[in-house]
Amino acid sequence: MALTPEQVQLVKDSYSLICKHSEPYSILFYHQLFLKHPFVRALFPDELAHQTSVFKQTIDVLVENIADLARMRPTLATLARQHVQYGVDTYQYAIVGAVLIDTFAEILESRFTSEARKAWEALYAETAAIMISESSTGH
Ligand code: HEM
Repeated sequence: MALTPEQVQLVKDSYSLICKHSEPYSILFYHQLFLKHPFVRALFPDELAHQTSVFKQTIDVLVENIADLARMRPTLATLARQHVQYGVDTYQYAIVGAVLIDTFAEILESRFTSEARKAWEALYAETAAIMISESSTGH
């Protein structure tokens, strides 16, 4: 389901605050992901610098295109197929989404309102749904 204009704004506003945080959220995110779900560590290379940067770039682009996510489908389709090659299972999308949003909550504390959380959940759910649907086609 598409996000409401209020949700679009909530995601944009909260994301600009998250990006101002002294420690890059993508570093905190991977730290939390491997702490909470150690079994996914083996999927990633030892050196995470590249990964943290490209992951953040993708979220940047998602937030930029949030009002028209359909435009992201070709990019997400390619990304989804790469993830199949990396050995990612579709059930892991829920894990990554939960850790990402918890990381945002940890950074913003009380500024991460329940409305902001719901808006991020909606954005992530839509993104993951596209990637999951593209994971099972064409091979
Ligand atoms: C919306 C969700 C996700 C986004 C935006 C995302 C983004 C990315 C990006 C941009 C890359 C780099 C692609 C490249 O090689 O150029 C990547 C790689 C990767 N992602 Fe994701 N990802 C997502 C979900 C997941 C999930 C659910 C997992 C499961 C644990 C995962 C595991 C990986 C792995 C293992 C790699 C490859 C690392 C490597 O070998 O270099 N990702 N991801």
